[in-house]
Amino acid sequence: PIKVIIDCDPGIDDSLALLLALNSPELNVVGITTVSGNVPADLGAQNALKILDFAQHLNIPVYIGAMSPLKVPYTSAQDTHGDDGLGNSHLPAVTTVTPHPDAVTFILDQLHQNPEILVLALGPLTNIAQALQRDAAAFAGPGRFVLMGGSYKSHGNCSPVAEYNFWCDPDAAKVVFDDMPRLIEMVGLDVTRKIVLTPSLLSYMKHTDETTGSLIEHITRFYFDFHWEYERVIGCVINDPLAVAYLINPSLLSGFESYGTIAMDGVARGQSIVDDHHFWHHAPNVRIATKVAVTDFWQLFLPRVTGAESP
Ligand code: BDR
Ligand code: CA
Repeated sequence: PIKVIIDCDPGIDDSLALLLALNSPELNVVGITTVSGNVPADLGAQNALKILDFAQHLNIPVYIGAMSPLKVPYTSAQDTHGDDGLGNSHLPAVTTVTPHPDAVTFILDQLHQNPEILVLALGPLTNIAQALQRDAAAFAGPGRFVLMGGSYKSHGNCSPVAEYNFWCDPDAAKVVFDDMPRLIEMVGLDVTRKIVLTPSLLSYMKHTDETTGSLIEHITRFYFDFHWEYERVIGCVINDPLAVAYLINPSLLSGFESYGTIAMDGVARGQSIVDDHHFWHHAPNVRIATKVAVTDFWQLFLPRVTGAESP
């Protein structure tokens, strides 16, 4: 299996991504690190433990990372994800295990021990940027770096041009794009927007696996309401699980390599800027996903997370 560290901010869709990863034998999740994003990093760590508990994987360590962005003030997404970060489902707290401090040291130690380790970032990039600032050479090994974030041709989801993970800590996103020795594999809104969890899919999951289907219903109810209120969409976009599914089946996504960087302030704060016409003559630093096989995603996600055959 592929050894992977999941850096995340759970978070409704992060939780679904964790469930998918934990139920996939192709992946060996060696640790979960949390960053302030949807919720503060310490609350995110409690949520990661709740998901590990549900999936019976409390043996996997959880590390708390950066509590605030590199430079800008922290803005959570609790309006989208609920005060508890899990759609106000208020799942029981885990009291038998506690999260560890210092996610950045954990990430760097793991990279030194296993240079082939894959780092998957599903939240703002503060931890990854701090790790790069401390020891960029740690990322020079053969492992991959995959992130959910950014928007190439699609519009933003928290400004006209910016996706939340990049917007929340634009300076960290810029450090990652400028200093990451690995090719960045970007799973952005262009493809994740196509992954809409509908009421009928939810109902299907509940019929096949009452326990998991109900958990997902609880944590996504708030998200459903939010999507209806602000976007008049029935169902909810789940971004982060697509990045996990891509690790398991890379053919789910296709795209191209280019040079990309990040705008840090003003109206363009957090915008991903892609030089797809080679004005700057820089070597490619990012592979951008532009197309997704949506049905194949659900065929992978449903049986793994709920034991359901795909409809
Ligand atoms: C990203 O932002 C968060 O709200 C989600 O968890 C996802 O990682 C989508 O913009
Ligand atoms: Ca996330």
